[in-house]
Amino acid sequence: MNITWNAEKYTDDFSFVHQYGSGAAELVDCERGSSILDLGCGNGALTKALSEKGFVVAGLDASGELLEIARKNYPELTFLQGDATEFTLENPVDAVFSNAVFHWISKEDQMAMLSCVQQALKPGGQFVFEFGGCGNNARIHQALAQAFAEYGYSYEMPFYFPGIGEYAPMVEKAGFQVRFALLFDRLTELKGQDGLRDWIHMFVKTPFSMIEEEKIREEIISKAVEHLKEELYIDGIWYADYVRIRMKAIRIV
Ligand code: BEZ
Repeated sequence: MNITWNAEKYTDDFSFVHQYGSGAAELVDCERGSSILDLGCGNGALTKALSEKGFVVAGLDASGELLEIARKNYPELTFLQGDATEFTLENPVDAVFSNAVFHWISKEDQMAMLSCVQQALKPGGQFVFEFGGCGNNARIHQALAQAFAEYGYSYEMPFYFPGIGEYAPMVEKAGFQVRFALLFDRLTELKGQDGLRDWIHMFVKTPFSMIEEEKIREEIISKAVEHLKEELYIDGIWYADYVRIRMKAIRIV
């Protein structure tokens, strides 16, 4: 995962990412004082929320920009820089939690990440996560593909969005027993009249890297936004068509 974030805009305009993650965090049912790793902690907002439940937390993220914000906002917490697909911890933890991260990891690298998590957990430890599931942002990616095609480019969807049937066996293969799994729709309100345009700018970067001219990139985004207006602009508000996959698993091997 090598992404450059506009960390302040992410924190100001896309705070729903961590606000929604608190639903998944409720599945962590360790005792107070248990050690928890927040994997892909971003700006640290959910790491802080976990610490307020009485857990001893550490956040790990690859992004120096986001970690800078996390350390500034929560100087009392521990934040580590590392890649989710190749990290190790000095001491194994009671639970690993992750929100809105695993879709950034390619299908090929998922087993490496799951194996790092297994190694990072104590036997019996809890692994709780949520990320984009099968069909996530399907309308948005379809509209982008159509707009790319209108300009003679092909669009490669840059994320991994599995269903339960695909992902649960991978989690079990990595040495876990899946105890809970859910795939659900979550139409998500975006901020402002340029909400969808801003969302595309913030999150969909790699497909645009082959297009040199900024003017063309902006025109393609305008086309996609226009295609989506009928479906995702409702009563003056932009929405993104999120689908989440949420699971809880226990380390058994
Ligand atoms: C998500 O949280 O599902 C997501 C966010 C940005 C890009 C792709 C997926």
